[in-house]
Amino acid sequence: MKTAVYPGTFDPITLGHSDIVRRAAQLFDKVIVAIAVNAAKTPTWTADERVAMAQQVLAEFPNVEVKSFDTLLVSFVQRSNAGVILRGLRAVSDFEYEFQLAGMNRHLAPDIETLFLTPAEQFTFISSSLVREVACHGGDVPEFVHPIVKKELLTRYNIRNISQHKNYQE
Ligand code: COA
Repeated sequence: MKTAVYPGTFDPITLGHSDIVRRAAQLFDKVIVAIAVNAAKTPTWTADERVAMAQQVLAEFPNVEVKSFDTLLVSFVQRSNAGVILRGLRAVSDFEYEFQLAGMNRHLAPDIETLFLTPAEQFTFISSSLVREVACHGGDVPEFVHPIVKKELLTRYNIRNISQHKNYQE
């Protein structure tokens, strides 16, 4: 049974992340979306909230599980009996950081491989922080997040309807 772990902060999960998960779910028997507690990034949503959102967004994939972790990534991968870390590469600018991360993880656990997948073209320029920033200024983000996440963004930023936000047309 081939299991892959797809780690990240997922604050919040975007359609770019879901696109990677969909591709991975076709390649592996099981995919674990591993949500890092990641206090260093001071996430907008708690780990439990991020897990709940991702579980709803990814409910259509029977071989995908969502969990949180607050340890070294490689320890989580080993505990999960997985041999593969999956990361998404959106642009060349992602490469340097990803190369460092993969190198350090290989140093820590040589038997775990890091594999990279690229998302569909329309998701190559989005990130969780960009989605949050657009939403908190009243911009609409339906092409980038699942309706469940859009609802969470509306609640979080106390906006009744993103597209009718008074500054949106200005
Ligand atoms: N679609 C949309 N956005 C994507 C994306 C995709 N397919 N792939 C990456 N991103 C974005 C994320 O939204 C995120 O954006 P943000 O910075 O605006 O939030 C950014 O790219 C990168 O974030 P992410 O993929 O979530 O990674 P991360 O850098 O937040 O997390 C961990 C990296 C969690 C994997 C790493 O910190 C880790 O392993 N932590 C555990 C502790 C550990 O083992 N540390 C040593 C590692 S060597």
